[in-house]
Amino acid sequence: MARLHIAITGFGGIGRKVAELLSARAARYRQQFDLDVRVVGICGSSAGLIDEGGLSLEALSDRAGYTQGLTGETFIEQVPADLLIEASPTDFRTGGAALGYIRQAFHRQMHVIAISKGALVRDFPGLHAEASRRGLALKVSGAAGSAMPTVDLVQYNLAGCEVTSLSAIVTGTTNIILSEMMDRECDFADALAEAQRLGVAESDPTLDTHGWDTACKIAILCSAAFGDVIDVQTMERQGIDHVTLADVRRWKAQGVVPRLVGRVDRSTGACEASVGIALCGPDHPFARAHGRAKSVHVVTDLMGELTLVGGGSSPYGTAAAALKDLEHILRDLQRPPRPQGPQGPQGPQAPQAPLRQRSL
Ligand SMILES: NC(=O)c1ccc[n+]([C@@H]2O[C@H](COP(=O)([O-])OP(=O)(O)OC[C@H]3O[C@@H](n4cnc5c(N)ncnc54)[C@H](OP(=O)(O)O)[C@@H]3O)[C@@H](O)[C@H]2O)c1
Repeated sequence: MARLHIAITGFGGIGRKVAELLSARAARYRQQFDLDVRVVGICGSSAGLIDEGGLSLEALSDRAGYTQGLTGETFIEQVPADLLIEASPTDFRTGGAALGYIRQAFHRQMHVIAISKGALVRDFPGLHAEASRRGLALKVSGAAGSAMPTVDLVQYNLAGCEVTSLSAIVTGTTNIILSEMMDRECDFADALAEAQRLGVAESDPTLDTHGWDTACKIAILCSAAFGDVIDVQTMERQGIDHVTLADVRRWKAQGVVPRLVGRVDRSTGACEASVGIALCGPDHPFARAHGRAKSVHVVTDLMGELTLVGGGSSPYGTAAAALKDLEHILRDLQRPPRPQGPQGPQGPQAPQAPLRQRSL
């Protein structure tokens, strides 16, 4: 049986859930894909752990066993992995550590599943080109809506159709805060405090509440699903931090429901993206996306309009979205390689790199 060795960079809430789910699904990977899938390395900001034989959940929980300094370039250089799951903090302005991790992983011929958003916002075209050139996968479901399918919806379910517009609720924190404000008729600070008490909002929630998180996810979606490059810094963007109790009372009286929505308009040929508050009638599907729920609405040329509601915000949902990407990669790898032209594999048509055959 071939082995698939996985490395995880960023071992916080999400990285740990990924490791847990990989362990719980080990038998499934053996049965469905004839593959022995093992986590062989993880790293945080200052320390990491590598074992080519595979790391148990017990070993991963024992921070005393971590090697100080085994992080960054050193970690990627040493970890004997076929695939990187990137879950370090998001820094959309610089790309953060994730940008280096992903570039170096490609250099070492690893497939990449990105959950953090910064590197993708900063340089999706460059990363995608490098992956294609090397015949490697770059998957981004965890960074573009997680349990709410967005990229896959467009690429798989609507393949061949033109998507003329798309709008989506993709940030759990803002949806929870707006839902709280409407349900309890409370002000922004109150609703934010409740979201923080529930462990949903960060102690610094401004990335979410100022609309950056939605803007980043929409930009990643545009790049991955449409090949359209969007600059989040210049994107028209509104957050929810300015919403007052008076707004809430007025909206309730009008019978409308506020939602922070990312919008993409491709009807003119160009791709226009923005983030702002939408006031939805009570029968609009977005009104049913309450609390942690997300939603995406797509208008196509030939398959009409579709709306998905659900895919709530949760760490396990995000980890599961990353592992959905893994299953897609494994299926692609199982396909026989396409015949190559005289020039060999090139550009986006290049076949996926085969898994290394590892003896048990
Ligand atoms: N939470 C969600 O539901 C969700 C959903 C979609 C996407 N994401 C994205 O997933 C990523 C992880 O989120 P999270 O909730 O797991 O965050 P988290 O709990 O704060 O964990 C992040 C981890 O990254 C580590 N880290 C910091 N700098 C690093 C570096 N230079 N190299 C390697 N690791 C480093 C930290 O390790 P130390 O403890 O060693 O500092 C920390 O444990 C973020 O980019 C987030 O935007 C999260």
